[in-house]
Amino acid sequence: MLVKGTYDVLPQKMRQHTFVCKVFRDACGFYGYEEVATPILESGSLFERTLGASSDVVSKEMFFLAARKDEKIVLRPENTAGVMRLCLGEFLQDLPKRFFYFGPMFRYERPQMGRYRQFHQLGMECLGSAGWSSDVEAIQLAWTFLCNLQIQKHATLEINYIGGEEERSAYKNALKAYLEPYKKDLTPESQKRLEKNILRVLDTKSESDKDILRNAPKIRDFFTEGARHSFSHICEALVALNIPYVENPYLVRGLDYYNGSVFEITTQELGAQSAIIGGGRYDSLATCLGAKTLVPAVGWAAGVERLTLLLGKVNGIREKKRPVVTIFALDDVYMHSAIQCAHNIRSAGVPCVVLQDGSLKSKMKTSNKMEAVYTVLMGQKEMQRECVVVRAMDSGDEQEVRCSDLATFLKKVYCA
Ligand code: HAM
Repeated sequence: MLVKGTYDVLPQKMRQHTFVCKVFRDACGFYGYEEVATPILESGSLFERTLGASSDVVSKEMFFLAARKDEKIVLRPENTAGVMRLCLGEFLQDLPKRFFYFGPMFRYERPQMGRYRQFHQLGMECLGSAGWSSDVEAIQLAWTFLCNLQIQKHATLEINYIGGEEERSAYKNALKAYLEPYKKDLTPESQKRLEKNILRVLDTKSESDKDILRNAPKIRDFFTEGARHSFSHICEALVALNIPYVENPYLVRGLDYYNGSVFEITTQELGAQSAIIGGGRYDSLATCLGAKTLVPAVGWAAGVERLTLLLGKVNGIREKKRPVVTIFALDDVYMHSAIQCAHNIRSAGVPCVVLQDGSLKSKMKTSNKMEAVYTVLMGQKEMQRECVVVRAMDSGDEQEVRCSDLATFLKKVYCA
């Protein structure tokens, strides 16, 4: 039985999954990003120190493994902290670095369509770059990726700027002063957030909370000159690049490590699980991990399952199944020849599958199910003349081909 919130990736889904990752890998190549992989097992403290103890991910969603003594091992819930750990260990003297990654992540959430306990992310991190142009580059890479998948029409880019410690602490005070009188009218979840992590109240899904927030102070009223300068440059560059966006002053993101720009790309096609990409700047994550120097960074991650669900729904670009040729002998004495011919066909660059079990009828049925383009039949009559019959599955046309010419013949018709 499957563990709750997990699923098997069937071939059709796997093809989409691999395709999405390929499109991402190609896009990353154009922006000078290099691929890295970090372990699925990480120490719990990596996330406790970076994501924030009050974040949902750390406080309720991490999977702990039965560890030895007082070692706390978890299945990674995200990969930004892991990539920063890797960077601090290996590349601190060699910044900036641009990395991308793929892999499974684990969060103990209530499963539903588009939300799993084991899911896959692809993501990028630009490490050691403080300038606002790297925020633009990160967003541009995300948008290019969606354009290459031909799903950008179904996506909305929302951005906000949450400033640094200075702006945020002034803003938190003002927000608290505004919300306190409404405390008893807020949902219990927001009441808790008001005490523990006030910015997260802005992330509420409740309409009545949103009504209360409508007249709340906005972070932009607390921007320093530097914040105003960076945010306006980012917005200006997005306009110049023709990347449509909406400014969402309530966007704060669920992980505590962000400062400066934050962004999410959402879709209306996937119901409640509308976020397909999320990210932002995280300049102080490195110091949370003990770095002596600042490693300013920006990045994002996308949920691969949500991207493939969206691709399926809106008919975006998809990887086509590579058609095969099937080959079978009408008599078992020719099986060795079938195996040899299949080897030659594959060596010529044409995918080929040997069928042995069942009657002629069932082999034809299997070939149809596999959507074979050609079937090679080895009958006694033809084999005595060192020939085979090649059948085009769509038209039913058959022709005799010499065994020695078979691979070249199939290569020509398959690649035509
Ligand atoms: P996140 O917003 O927590 O950010 O996750 C990024 C994306 O992962 C989401 O937009 C969503 O598509 C997908 N996702 C999250 N949870 C689930 C789930 N339970 N099931 C299916 N898909 C899910 C991060 O993880 C940050 N590390 C992103 C980042 C990179 N920030 C800077 N660099």
